[in-house]
Amino acid sequence: MLPPEAPPLRPTWLEVRLDVLRANLEAIRRKVSPARVMAVVKANAYGHGIEGVAPFIAPYADYLGVALLEEGVLLRHLGIQKPILVMGGMFPEQIPCFLRYDLTLTVGSWRLLEAAEEIAAAHGKQLKVHLKIDTGMERLGVHDYEAEPFLLRAQACRHLEIEGIYSHFANSERADLSHARLQLERFLEVLRFYERRSLPPPPLRHMANSGAVLQLPESYFDMVRPGILFYGIYPGAETQRSVAVRPAMIWHSRVVHAKITLPERPVSYGSTWKASQPSRILTIPCGYGDGYFRQMSNRAQVVIRGKRYPQVGRICMDQFMVNAGEDEIESGEEVILMGEGAQGAGIHPEELAAWAGTIPYEVLTNISARVPRVFSGAERPNTDGDE
Ligand SMILES: Cc1ncc(COP(=O)(O)O)c(C=O)c1O
Repeated sequence: MLPPEAPPLRPTWLEVRLDVLRANLEAIRRKVSPARVMAVVKANAYGHGIEGVAPFIAPYADYLGVALLEEGVLLRHLGIQKPILVMGGMFPEQIPCFLRYDLTLTVGSWRLLEAAEEIAAAHGKQLKVHLKIDTGMERLGVHDYEAEPFLLRAQACRHLEIEGIYSHFANSERADLSHARLQLERFLEVLRFYERRSLPPPPLRHMANSGAVLQLPESYFDMVRPGILFYGIYPGAETQRSVAVRPAMIWHSRVVHAKITLPERPVSYGSTWKASQPSRILTIPCGYGDGYFRQMSNRAQVVIRGKRYPQVGRICMDQFMVNAGEDEIESGEEVILMGEGAQGAGIHPEELAAWAGTIPYEVLTNISARVPRVFSGAERPNTDGDE
């Protein structure tokens, strides 16, 4: 999607720099090559807007990863032809849709394995699947210590194309990688099944999320699955920053109202803050209904004309207030809520996460649908597969 000529009507919008996303993906690729790269675009491309991100990035990625069947179907409707892995847990009644849209099914239980074989056979088709092994996340998948009969049975399913086998790290972003290494060892032990039986392993063995891309090259196997790193954010404060990336998102707004507030008049619901002297209070048309967490009240900051100002009083559903002190800032002035601003100033998603007592993943994925996404930095029309 090319940037529109004029800003959208609503004066709060999310600019998504597609050129930055592409540079992040290429930096990851350089680090992990020859392993392939799956771009994880679940949860509305981590809040960036799947409809703009996925068609742009598909030609540069080897695989796309989503959580929901609906997300995979949407990608096909957007014209994307690259392989798509649906990583979430599925029910048998969802399987026909995988055949119809050529989506790759994650099979992490006996029940789903038998259902997949039966349904694919009934349709007279081959279904592409990746087997999921639980090596220590205790979420989806067959436990590593029970995997052997499961892999044997999968080998015998004539209507399943076992294209991949994978596992997922619980702690790969930590400085202490002992649990991650234990998980990796368990996965390697599972893969020895193929060696022992002189069988070729599935062509796509994969395990590495962002933390492992940065810290565990031994886990790259045939493909990596970075999410947050692709969007330019490191998965943890202590994670080694062995790939240089930058956030692609800039959350913009504009001052919609400015006035002088006197010290005896507290600001916003609950009257939690008041000025110590007459101060210019700015109203910003964005609130917790947009994903600007209420939890950040009296903690957040914004950038205006390259300078930081504190957010004051409770954040409301559609608006919040900022103290500009004695600075003469008027209605209409542009405000950066998150991301790189002009003159080098900006606010990192990690800062919002700290103010809200959460992680950047949650900050990004909570920016609500009513904040328009504006895509910039795409130098050519978005078509899939024409690299
Ligand atoms: C199975 C799976 N793989 C990869 C990812 C990407 O993780 P990250 O964003 O930490 O790189 C996720 C996200 O949670 C996931 O669930």
